Amino acid sequence: MDNRRHGFSGQPQPLKRLGSLLGASAAMQEVFRLIERVGPTDAGVLLTGESGSGKELAARSIHECSARRNGPFVAIHCGAVPSGLPEAFKGAQGGTLLLDEVCEMPPEMQTQLLRTDASTKFVADVRVIASTNRCPLQAVQSGLLREDLLYRLAVFPIEMPSLRARGDDVELLAEHFLAELNAQAHTQKRLSAPARMTLRQHVWPGNVRELKNCIERAFILGDVTLDLAPLIAGGAARDGDRIHDHEQLSIRVGSRIHDMERSLIEATLDYFKGNKRRAADALGCSLKTLYNKLNGYSQSQECANS
Ligand SMILES: Nc1ncnc2c1ncn2[C@@H]1O[C@H](COP(=O)(O)OP(=O)(O)OP(=O)(O)O)[C@@H](O)[C@H]1O
Ligand SMILES: [Mg+2]
Repeated sequence: MDNRRHGFSGQPQPLKRLGSLLGASAAMQEVFRLIERVGPTDAGVLLTGESGSGKELAARSIHECSARRNGPFVAIHCGAVPSGLPEAFKGAQGGTLLLDEVCEMPPEMQTQLLRTDASTKFVADVRVIASTNRCPLQAVQSGLLREDLLYRLAVFPIEMPSLRARGDDVELLAEHFLAELNAQAHTQKRLSAPARMTLRQHVWPGNVRELKNCIERAFILGDVTLDLAPLIAGGAARDGDRIHDHEQLSIRVGSRIHDMERSLIEATLDYFKGNKRRAADALGCSLKTLYNKLNGYSQSQECANS
């Protein structure tokens, strides 16, 4: 009998790996299954999911599951492609092109992409994967993304689950990241019992990126047993200063995740006096993602005012 599979030891399932993507939860096993199905085909994939949920890693795993694995994997941020699409396609010949943050693609570039088809020389041998942390249908409704382009790109959609929907993966990933750091530094640091509690209680709005950054900060700060609560409650390490009341948010149970995230982002930005880089670091997201979110808020404000 396979004790691990039947949970004989009472332990959670071990982490499984697909490329660099790790996960034991049912939600991640489903993602692995979809990637293994679609990987070997040349179908276009649209990856959606919150910031830090692993969309880029998933795109790389798709590439690695395909016959193109020895070709290039090129990722471009669609809001900033200085050299243009033809150059990007040229660089990805024989491989995979990730159109990252596809909803930020300028309208003229969307038209250009739509005009290209498989018979055009520069796209002939490139598999296209797109990703976004917006809801693609909402992006179409608000005029950001052309509907025809969405249907062209989203032959096979995959949604990356948020970390809070992955159950025991939070603790397993934390242990994995800690083991990597221990191996590099030849140390044997461990998570304290309260740290494990924090792992279970925190909602991880920045998903795996936030978790990874948090473990790294705790690793740097801790000697033997690592604590996490001060790092999460107060954002980035802040020269040992205390957490004051005005640095805390109180959130009503049942609040919409979107509203909670927005309040947290705005309060963090206030705390760091508008310094977006420090706020993004504290929130465990990329600067690019913070800008996208703030743009989204000002757009919905404009809609509400019009
Ligand atoms: N399942 C996973 N296993 C291991 N590491 C992961 C996993 N998911 C994400 N990570 C790590 O978390 C970080 C963020 O992942 P990634 O850049 O793929 O997210 P993303 O969804 O593209 O984020 P964004 O929307 O902000 O661009 C990376 O350091 C990545 O290595
Ligand atoms: Mg990304």
